[in-house]
Amino acid sequence: MTSLLSDERQADGLPDDDSNRPLIPSPAGQLTRRAFLAESGTTGIAGILASAPMAASVASAAQADADAAPPSSSMALALRVNGKPHALQVDPRTTLLDLLREQMALPGTKKGCDHGQCGACTVLVNNRRINSCLALALSHDGAEITTIEGLARGSELHPMQAAFVKHDGFQCGYCTSGQICSAVGMLREAEQGAPSHVTADVRRTGPVAPLSDAEIRERMSGNICRCGAYPGIVAAVREVSRMPRAANTRRSRA
Ligand code: FES
Ligand code: FES
Repeated sequence: MTSLLSDERQADGLPDDDSNRPLIPSPAGQLTRRAFLAESGTTGIAGILASAPMAASVASAAQADADAAPPSSSMALALRVNGKPHALQVDPRTTLLDLLREQMALPGTKKGCDHGQCGACTVLVNNRRINSCLALALSHDGAEITTIEGLARGSELHPMQAAFVKHDGFQCGYCTSGQICSAVGMLREAEQGAPSHVTADVRRTGPVAPLSDAEIRERMSGNICRCGAYPGIVAAVREVSRMPRAANTRRSRA
């Protein structure tokens, strides 16, 4: 049989069956492809690893992970979320993002990268924008949190929400809640005089206004839109930033 298969492979122009060639050269013996398959079929990959020199280091690494596992006991946490007080019990490892989405049924805040790189998870904490995927919920005990669900007043959209709709500042919408929360927080920062990388005179005090498109792009650069809806996003933020305060008392108030 072996020679027949070998003849067929040669007739097809294929190399000889190499199942008995060493898979991993080893001074203690040669592990062939056939032996590897046979052993993994009977003992599984654990059996292979157990017979390899690395078994001891794998076992010690697993033990180290077990020793390093943080406690799973929950802790008390008090938050005001979208104007309502909440008394919660949370695992100390829970991020603010997971708390909002998984425990408080507020899925408007999105999880994009979960690594602080996309801005999809942006919420307002005490009126400052943060990436909630990078924040432990417990570290904000007593804070006032505003998510996208808390911006509208009933059926009345927040001016930033209305501007995003008006200027088509979104396509799929996945980044949009983060963009809007970020824009609301960003306008407050500009009003308070915080300079950006493109602010011409960083020594100037008072509000940074009017915001140029370059300022808006720079200040919103932590919020990525994979649909490329940036022209609409900039137009929406520009419009709200130039609304008279009397006509837009909610411009920077979450
Ligand atoms: Fe938080 Fe991307 S999910 S920055
Ligand atoms: Fe789709 Fe921004 S609208 S990612």
